[in-house]
Amino acid sequence: MTNATTEPHLFVILGGRGDLMHRKLLPALYRLYRRGLFPAGCCFLGAGRGESTDEEFQEYARGSLAEAGFTMTPDAVRWCNESIFYQAIGGDDGYRKLADRIQALEQARDLPGNRIFYLALPPSVFPASIEGLGETGLNQSAGWTRLVIEKPFGRDLSTAEELNRLVHRYFAEEQVYRIDHYLGKETVQNLLVFRFANALTEPIWNRERVERVEITVAESLGIEDRSGYYEKAGAMRDMIQNHLAQLLTLTAMEVPGAFEADAIRNEKVKALRAVTPLQPDAVVFGQYTAGEMGGKPAAGYRDEAGVAPDSETESYVAIRLEVNNWRWQGVPFILRTGKRLPRRTSQIVVTFRRPPVALFAEFRGESVEPNRLVITIQPDEGFDLSFEVKAPEEPYRLETQYLRFRYADVHTGLPDAYETLLLDVMNGDATLFVRADEVEAAWHLFSPLLENRPKVYPYAAGTWGPKEADELLGGDGPWATR
Ligand SMILES: NC(=O)c1ccc[n+]([C@@H]2O[C@H](COP(=O)([O-])OP(=O)(O)OC[C@H]3O[C@@H](n4cnc5c(N)ncnc54)[C@H](OP(=O)(O)O)[C@@H]3O)[C@@H](O)[C@H]2O)c1
Repeated sequence: MTNATTEPHLFVILGGRGDLMHRKLLPALYRLYRRGLFPAGCCFLGAGRGESTDEEFQEYARGSLAEAGFTMTPDAVRWCNESIFYQAIGGDDGYRKLADRIQALEQARDLPGNRIFYLALPPSVFPASIEGLGETGLNQSAGWTRLVIEKPFGRDLSTAEELNRLVHRYFAEEQVYRIDHYLGKETVQNLLVFRFANALTEPIWNRERVERVEITVAESLGIEDRSGYYEKAGAMRDMIQNHLAQLLTLTAMEVPGAFEADAIRNEKVKALRAVTPLQPDAVVFGQYTAGEMGGKPAAGYRDEAGVAPDSETESYVAIRLEVNNWRWQGVPFILRTGKRLPRRTSQIVVTFRRPPVALFAEFRGESVEPNRLVITIQPDEGFDLSFEVKAPEEPYRLETQYLRFRYADVHTGLPDAYETLLLDVMNGDATLFVRADEVEAAWHLFSPLLENRPKVYPYAAGTWGPKEADELLGGDGPWATR
């Protein structure tokens, strides 16, 4: 998002040999390098409990790039061998060793003391690593110091508050970058541009013109090999509290006073706080049972490896909520997410009110279809705006047609979300990161559903969720399935 210039810095990744580093961070860092965005001297220090030499870690980095599909040119090999290092931090003096290594690298590469610490660690390890950094004095330096924390941030409101207190014991909020990688997606950022750079959108973006808003993040995959994580998380913690809450705030927020991190985040927090407490009869939890995906049998959730046979973990959630402010009062917002749904799609559908007079009812034989704006976040990024038009020849038969924009028709390749977010951290732009009060406001809204869990209804893999959700959702599957 930022246009600033990157300053020389040292980038430390705690959990340097983890899955996130291997699949996402290393390829994203390499793409940024290829775009020429690292000033001379910048380097990357992986850290973890395991012993590893720099050379072994550089080989690991080369493997990660090759797996991500990059050709290992001499330049790629040189980048790995000259800029990537490793420090083992097991044992009681792990963070002291890390501090010493950082100093040595900064001296050797003539770096000014600007540092990024990226916690690519299991959430259970966040507290110990924040303490480790703080107690060793690594929270401050001669330059700037930034702390990047992966999601999930807490398991509910109280654990999120506790983690924020710990973070703030050592780091000022301005130093902290809480990642929700959804915010790095071009199409999610485009929501801000779509809404606030087009004079057409804002005047109709309110209760006068909008009938309902549906936000869907549907996955066709099941839990794959992540039962250990998913059994404890479920769709509420995995999707609703973070990704869907972010899409909700960007759709519902007021116009910010300026295009600045805090001005935007203030409005997002206000939107979250305007949501009325969730009503149990406006929530449906589901769990997939055996079914069919693409003509092949698919196992039920409870039959997946590592899942308890009586598990009540929700793999589907639908929520109808209301944003109780002047702009949105009375407009239902539907949040829906699930695994093993018929296809993968993330979209925001804004359904506008129908014309006040049904002038064409006698020709249509039914009420006129409302105009709809469908913003597709993934895949096939872009949007469609539906209109009623006259079908040719027949006297006033109406049909629905679309204005359509697809990124792929105009641009070749969108940057990966992590590429965008890493660059923003390097340039100190916190717009796309979740602030402490924002993460707490989201937990405040959704935690009651974790304390008083609704009944979990079954749905067959390959269908659009439990039938109990149909009524809540207005009797239909997602708009895009029609
Ligand atoms: N993987 C993804 O695609 C993805 C996507 C979105 C968000 N995230 C988030 O990113 C973070 C990292 O995910 P990940 O999949 O990379 O995790 P991971 O592979 O399970 O763990 C990352 C590293 O953490 C270290 N670690 C594990 N247990 C530890 C412990 N008890 N004490 C100290 N260090 C420990 C390990 O390194 P050592 O053994 O070398 O210490 C491990 O390589 C998580 O918060 C996750 O929720 C991941």
